[in-house]
Amino acid sequence: MTHSASEPNQPGQPARGTPASSGVEREPILETSGVSKTFPGVKALQRVDFRLFPGEVHTLMGQNGAGKSTLINVLTGVLAPDAGTIRLGGEIVAFASPQEAEAAGVRTLYQEVNLCPNLSVAENIFAGRQPRRFGAIDWSDIKRRAQEALARLDVSLDVTRSLDAYPIAVQQMVAIARALSVDARVLILDEPTSSLDDSEVAQLFKILRHLKQSGIAILFVTHFIEQTYAISDRITVMRNGEREGEYLARDLPADQLVAKMVGHERMSARLREAAHEGQAADDLREFAHEPAEEHASAAAAQPFVELRGVGRRGTLQPIDLDVRAGQILGLAGLLGSGRTETARLLFGADRADSGTILVNGRPVKLRSPRDAVRHGIGYCAEDRKKEGIVAELSIRENIVLALQARRGWWRKISRQRARELADVWIERLGIKASDAEQPIALLSGGNQQKALLARWLATDPKLLILDEPTRGIDVAAKFDIMDRLLALCANGLSILFISSEIGEVLRVSHRVAVLRDRRKIAEVAGKASNEDNIYRLIAGSGE
Ligand SMILES: Nc1ncnc2c1ncn2[C@@H]1O[C@H](COP(=O)(O)OP(=O)(O)OP(=O)(O)O)[C@@H](O)[C@H]1O
Ligand SMILES: [Mg+2]
Repeated sequence: MTHSASEPNQPGQPARGTPASSGVEREPILETSGVSKTFPGVKALQRVDFRLFPGEVHTLMGQNGAGKSTLINVLTGVLAPDAGTIRLGGEIVAFASPQEAEAAGVRTLYQEVNLCPNLSVAENIFAGRQPRRFGAIDWSDIKRRAQEALARLDVSLDVTRSLDAYPIAVQQMVAIARALSVDARVLILDEPTSSLDDSEVAQLFKILRHLKQSGIAILFVTHFIEQTYAISDRITVMRNGEREGEYLARDLPADQLVAKMVGHERMSARLREAAHEGQAADDLREFAHEPAEEHASAAAAQPFVELRGVGRRGTLQPIDLDVRAGQILGLAGLLGSGRTETARLLFGADRADSGTILVNGRPVKLRSPRDAVRHGIGYCAEDRKKEGIVAELSIRENIVLALQARRGWWRKISRQRARELADVWIERLGIKASDAEQPIALLSGGNQQKALLARWLATDPKLLILDEPTRGIDVAAKFDIMDRLLALCANGLSILFISSEIGEVLRVSHRVAVLRDRRKIAEVAGKASNEDNIYRLIAGSGE
């Protein structure tokens, strides 16, 4: 790339059509004009003009279902547009496949990570383009290069182990390493950070800045407002399949950004304030929730589930934990600290080998998820692809799945009843679907996540375990959903809330249990404790 990384001369207001001409104006490396794509019942893209310049980080923002991933799919040959043109380096292109786009220097990390869980980490990084020596695949070279690719991300793994031996955030890092492992002119990343923790995001951003300096154009999608401002030069806002506008990040305050995403008319005061404050709408700062007051009643609330010395060798040190009726218990800790392991024991997905679990004061055995479901426990897992959605089934079937399992398969829920239930939850959670009979795989990522939540809410659980429940869900919808969960808590629902966003955990939880190295090291009251404190506990400095 010969272009420098300077800002294109473009005013911050919506830039339509071709760039304002001035002597030093650069050409976009990637550009669409009038691109449209319609699916049955959905206009996913409507005459979208989009441009990406060399040496910039350009973030696509928009609510779930706004058309971000569809635009990326059209740009990279996954989908053919119905109308419009795409230019790469000024030339009209029509990639027939992602491989063709890749060969032209457009490297993409898709939203649903498409790695092969059974292959080794190294094979995943180089699958389809293994270096060869004398015609044979050169394994020692692959291994070395995979290690190098990961080292750039500050990750060191045994690259010969199979990918599914690692937690999902690590798999995400492997996918990023794969995307970064070849020379690219354009790098496209669709929600790469949704399961990463702060330090991993920082590392990724460091690399993106470096790549940007070398003239690579980076197209980025995220729902995290703070991240958007930390990394972006330019922002394009999508709304309902249309390009709402293109802005320089420094000219677009966060509250305006959110207003443009949701439509000004739907911008609630609360959302506006939240977006404004520290440009951190994603941390639910304004969350209408007063744990301080509720705390008094909190002490009185009966535990729904009690863990007494519950552990599993090699997975979790014996732990004591109470989840009280009508309350949210947060679990804070780093990746691998034992959060998901605790959730799995509580859901019977793994068996405890010590201690007692009490439900409503009575000892119970949770030998399998079925046992847990029978006791009113639901588990919305973090990996929606592997443990969550069933891609071939319809939205309706996915939503009633857990309820059907609890009733037993011989007591089939009637189609009519299932339809009603699905419609209710589609409505309540604002799932953007044209029809409940659609295969769920056709929903946008965030809407699939909402459907997964609907599945468990439909069972009317007593305790809901939520592992990264708002992963991929847009800012506005996140508020809605947390409000809804709190309302359910007021009616007695208990929640075990797991998220790598410490701020979010603190704000929604009545109490927070802090885990480190697979053991519980502290328990603090939600809002009463500050973030720094929790970070210190997690890091292991000062109790
Ligand atoms: N293959 C498909 N068939 C039918 N409808 C589809 C298909 N792919 C996407 N859609 C629909 O097109 C719309 C746009 O989806 P898209 O995945 O682009 O949204 P998004 O902006 O990426 O959302 P998210 O933030 O949730 O990932 C949605 O209504 C989605 O359900
Ligand atoms: Mg998407």
